[in-house]
Amino acid sequence: MRLQDECAIITGAGRGIGRACALRAAAEGAHVVVADLDLAAAKRVAEEVRALGRQAVPLRVDVTRAAEVQAMVEQTVHALGRVDVLVNNAGVIGPGPSETLSEAEWDRVVAVDLKGVFLCSQAAGRQMIAQRRGKIVSIASIAAWAGFPMRASYNASKAGVVALTQVLACEWAKYGIRVNAVGPGYVNTDIVKQGLELGVVTLADIERRTPLGRLAEPDEIARAVVFLASDEASYITGQTLFVDGGWTAYGLW
Ligand SMILES: NC(=O)c1ccc[n+]([C@@H]2O[C@H](COP(=O)([O-])OP(=O)(O)OC[C@H]3O[C@@H](n4cnc5c(N)ncnc54)[C@H](O)[C@@H]3O)[C@@H](O)[C@H]2O)c1
Repeated sequence: MRLQDECAIITGAGRGIGRACALRAAAEGAHVVVADLDLAAAKRVAEEVRALGRQAVPLRVDVTRAAEVQAMVEQTVHALGRVDVLVNNAGVIGPGPSETLSEAEWDRVVAVDLKGVFLCSQAAGRQMIAQRRGKIVSIASIAAWAGFPMRASYNASKAGVVALTQVLACEWAKYGIRVNAVGPGYVNTDIVKQGLELGVVTLADIERRTPLGRLAEPDEIARAVVFLASDEASYITGQTLFVDGGWTAYGLW
């Protein structure tokens, strides 16, 4: 088991990719703090983690609020003794044309997708520095690599996550902390399903633009997250691993 008895905090773990990370981490032996804005969803996933024989602590946390994030880390240490792994997964999208994007809407997306990653990394990082050990994996996106029209706040935040990953990796290597990111392509989650239903994008478009010709399943992203959090990645830090079916490698349209 690659995360045997390690203690992992996963934000936005109530559904989608975060839930898949919680279940995959538990299957690899980790105890999991299931953190989400939606406490009912966090409790449901915590039950699924317990069914795998691991400890689970569901918490309602807004990653944009420093005091709540600090409390999340303190509650984790109180319940599980330490923080070995942080997965910064909570994220939102806020589509709209840049020329009319409101300041409030820009702030809302950047607060979750970039500031939230910093606040959680900082709070967990302080604990990991004290432990002289820790692994942080943040969920970026192919939107950090290429421009998606109507996604200014999201793309800029995800590119910020890639840069922040490099900075924290360099600062905290001396404390035995590795910091990496995973950049998913299109994943079979509620966000993508909504986009398909609204006609923002079609499944045929995604399949044509993706060399592997399909959406990712959430567990395919979670498996890369667990790899980066495990000792199998012991010499990898500051990297963003794109898990995108070849999307960023593709040179045509
Ligand atoms: N789905 C995709 O195709 C895709 C592709 C690339 C990157 N991503 C990224 O992966 C991550 C997860 O995406 P998903 O598709 O599973 O999303 P999702 O919307 O299904 O789940 C996101 C979860 O985050 C929680 N959340 C939102 N704001 C929060 C906050 N302020 N504090 C705490 N929790 C909060 C939500 O309650 C929800 O449970 C996001 O960072 C997203 O940007 C997704």
